[in-house]
Amino acid sequence: MTTKSSFLIRRLKPADAEAFSALRREVLADNAVPMGLSMTEELARPLQGFRDQLGYPEPNAAFGAFVGDALVGSSAIAWPSKLASSRHKANLWGVFTSPRYRRQGISRALVQHTVAHGRANGLLRINLTVYVPNPEATKLYATLGFVQTGLEPQSICLDGNYYDGEYWSLSLPAHNDASGAITKT
Ligand SMILES: CC(C)(COP(=O)(O)OP(=O)(O)OC[C@H]1O[C@@H](n2cnc3c(N)ncnc32)[C@H](O)[C@@H]1OP(=O)(O)O)[C@@H](O)C(=O)NCCC(=O)NCCS
Repeated sequence: MTTKSSFLIRRLKPADAEAFSALRREVLADNAVPMGLSMTEELARPLQGFRDQLGYPEPNAAFGAFVGDALVGSSAIAWPSKLASSRHKANLWGVFTSPRYRRQGISRALVQHTVAHGRANGLLRINLTVYVPNPEATKLYATLGFVQTGLEPQSICLDGNYYDGEYWSLSLPAHNDASGAITKT
């Protein structure tokens, strides 16, 4: 029987880069496909790159789930453009949980937290890519209301094997107020 761990979610900052990198390596060692790159490629990534990612300016945000002081899961959101024409959409990235803490509701809580952050910042749509097969992740996203919108065949190549990338998207409904202006719910 699995014992559920109690965890806290907080914002990740550049100072969390080392723990974030260690968690990525643990997840990747378990299965490289969801991470979309090989361990050799991951090990070559400089820590400064993660510091930069975790320090992207608001409203970009990365969240971590902590059991005690240990980072055991993450979920992040990035706005691809500051232009008004693209300001309504953002990309979900960095969703993973340590293999030692799976099936305890950690990713569901993290993604819900991240979606709430996106909603609070006016998003109408959150997009992501899942490298497949990944039934755990696609089930997680489907149960949170994401739908598949497309597919990139042979998106990544790992050890000579090709894997597709599925595009998934969550619509965050807007509503019209009495004046006819569109506002976000
Ligand atoms: C996918 C992943 C993030 C899920 O993390 P998790 O913390 O174990 O997920 P949760 O416990 O919050 O589970 C949420 C839901 O996901 C689905 N799910 C998760 N693991 C599953 C499994 N092994 N089998 C079937 N469904 C699963 C279920 O719908 C689950 O809800 P339920 O437990 O009420 O049935 C985790 O398996 C992981 O890190 N995988 C490797 C990295 C990855 O795939 N990231 C996503 C990249 S897009």
